[in-house]
Amino acid sequence: MIKVRASPNIAFIKYWGKERTSDPQRVNWALNPSLSLTLSRAQTLTQLEFVEADKDSVVIDKLDASTRDCAKIRTHVERVCIALGKPIPRALIYRSDNNFPTAAGIASSASAFAALTWAVLGCLMGRERAEEWIRLNPRRVSEFCRWGSGSACRSAGGPYMLWRDEAASVQEFPLKLRDTVIIVSRQKKSVSSRDGHEAALSSPLLTQRLTRVESRLARMTEALRSQNLAVFGALLEEEALEMHEVARQGTPSVEYWTEDTRRVLSTLREMTNRDFYFTLDAGPNVHIISTRDVRRDLTEILDKLGIRAELWEDESGDCPQFI
Ligand code: DP6
Repeated sequence: MIKVRASPNIAFIKYWGKERTSDPQRVNWALNPSLSLTLSRAQTLTQLEFVEADKDSVVIDKLDASTRDCAKIRTHVERVCIALGKPIPRALIYRSDNNFPTAAGIASSASAFAALTWAVLGCLMGRERAEEWIRLNPRRVSEFCRWGSGSACRSAGGPYMLWRDEAASVQEFPLKLRDTVIIVSRQKKSVSSRDGHEAALSSPLLTQRLTRVESRLARMTEALRSQNLAVFGALLEEEALEMHEVARQGTPSVEYWTEDTRRVLSTLREMTNRDFYFTLDAGPNVHIISTRDVRRDLTEILDKLGIRAELWEDESGDCPQFI
């Protein structure tokens, strides 16, 4: 049996909108490049075994998985086996547990499919040969992760990952950033990111966004390289607001924010001389990116607003590991 742990990532430049395709090689093919920070404290622990049984056993966060999730896992395992010219296993025993609240706005599909990809390679090759193969084929592994979930290709390495075309590659920047998530809601997100990507295609803002995103990425990369936190932060916020506006103007309109999200964001935007900056994934929770511990600052803000929200503090991390 193979055990793996993998961490999710938070996107600074977002993957929002993917190609409509029936070509399996172009599944989850983003319309634009994206840049992210891989986390470390938040982890998915996955166990996988290939067995001679009649049916798969799939347990996610201690519950039997839905038929849809079972099918997604089986499809992913089969795709990786086929890509490597290996036989498809008769049955799987799959268990995965997140140590962070699933659907708390931390993309669990990213760590889940990164962990699963590692686990399949471990089952096919044995742990040591898999480690070696992964070291020699980092883009290929990231591409496998992408087939399961687009953002998973960026959890194949760290601390920073740039996803362009089929896969993501590691980027090194001198800034050591952390992500403190203000969990304003633990509810499952109202619209899945899959449906969000689809709705984005109908948004009149998308074309304009796609012409701007490459230059924003270049400026953000330069800001990270030169450790210019203020420039980085301004671009980070502009990007997050744009992604959510694209979502809002799609058909159907997708609104991920709650009243508390709005109140937190407007308080942050009114503050002068901030050295921490926000971004949001496809959900209501606010990710604060900073170089220092900002828990006290955030607790003060939340207390003033009378909002009871948990904080999840995370730091930069690396590729998945066999355990
Ligand atoms: C808003 O990777 O969850 O978090 O490819 O359909 O699985 P699928 O989508 P997913 O989309 C993530 C969207 C995002 C932005 C990002 O992580 O870049």
